[in-house]
Amino acid sequence: MTSLLRLTGLLGGGRAGAMSLCGRHLRTLHGTSRLAAAGSKVNMGSEFRAAALQKTLTTTPKALVPKEKLAFGHTFSDHMLTAEWTAKDGWGTPQIRAYGPLSLDPSCSVFHYAFECFEGLKAYRDAQGQVRLFRPDKNMERMNHSVERLYLPQFDGAQVIECIKELVRTDQRWVPEGRGYSLYIRPTMIATENTLGVHRANSALLYVITSPCGPYFPTGFKAVSLYCDETNVRAWPGGVGNRKMGANYAGSVGPQVEAEKRGYQQVLWTIGEDHELMEVGTMNLFILWRNEGGELELVTPPLDGTILPGVTRDSVLELVRGWGEFKVSERKINMKQIARASDEGRLLEIFGAGTACVVTPVNRIHFKGKDYKVPLDPADPGSQAGPVTGRIYQALMDIQYGVVPSKWSVLVD
Ligand code: COI
Repeated sequence: MTSLLRLTGLLGGGRAGAMSLCGRHLRTLHGTSRLAAAGSKVNMGSEFRAAALQKTLTTTPKALVPKEKLAFGHTFSDHMLTAEWTAKDGWGTPQIRAYGPLSLDPSCSVFHYAFECFEGLKAYRDAQGQVRLFRPDKNMERMNHSVERLYLPQFDGAQVIECIKELVRTDQRWVPEGRGYSLYIRPTMIATENTLGVHRANSALLYVITSPCGPYFPTGFKAVSLYCDETNVRAWPGGVGNRKMGANYAGSVGPQVEAEKRGYQQVLWTIGEDHELMEVGTMNLFILWRNEGGELELVTPPLDGTILPGVTRDSVLELVRGWGEFKVSERKINMKQIARASDEGRLLEIFGAGTACVVTPVNRIHFKGKDYKVPLDPADPGSQAGPVTGRIYQALMDIQYGVVPSKWSVLVD
């Protein structure tokens, strides 16, 4: 049975709100935006309106996959959200409809010039059975930042969040129970123009799919080894490393396979002659060490335009700064400093942080022919994480699963 449901009135928001939010995005985040500074407007035509959302339910709901069998990103829920945009008319009607293939012309610009950006956020089921999102506003803010560089249409994040909430409500049976399990939400925007010229697109598609998941790595919550790649660079000043574009990830796969062939699980990305640390695999990087001045310090590379402004990264920083127990810095740190700290016993813990991987401990780094061991918990030889890494991981999950109340956790209701 197909049901068509118009949600007008249920989902609030209007044009005035949308306009002011767009203004905020254009003023912008994560470093100065040259497009914004030039006063250009990436949006035009009708605004994205959650109140216009239409819903057509699938006639063939799928069987759930037992959560123990979930591999990250392999299973998809029953529905997806789509909204088309054209330069002439602006945003069309957002739709929730059966999950299924998109029909795109082979000349479509996304296939040729990587006109694509995406986001990753999760819906968590709390102990009371309620479903919660974690900081969805941050994902929308970042997506508008990615969209800006591609010159695709910006949108009012609050309006898209309302539609995502309705998608999650529609597919709530797909939100698995249990700590470590969640429904991964993947908002994506692509250019859909059917021409081969390299120029701004006159049409685009925003779509959101969802996928129930457990741990990102098939090994579960286990420390990973890193191969410091001396040849390839993930991002560079003035590039797009701070925008979540698919092209950043496609280019990382060759080096990732090479690292695996050498027996390491993830690539440690660095830049420059001093091998300044950037990111690890698909995650932001954190180092806990005793610095050259003898202080206990948690360091992560700064958002200088080459680093992805991770939502988990931001959350870790705010959380740990709130503890007030040690110095927390966003600053440059290079591989020579790490090697020296390791040789001198000052390297305490390293972990990656990201939505999909949450917090992933690191146990060794290969650099210039030598393996540097990163201690896990000296008090517990069988542990998979150092004490601070483990504490951060648990504290984040307490918020995500609603154990500890926080403004970051948004009920889907
Ligand atoms: C995420 O952490 O959500 C990511 O985007 C990583 C992804 C490429 C699996």
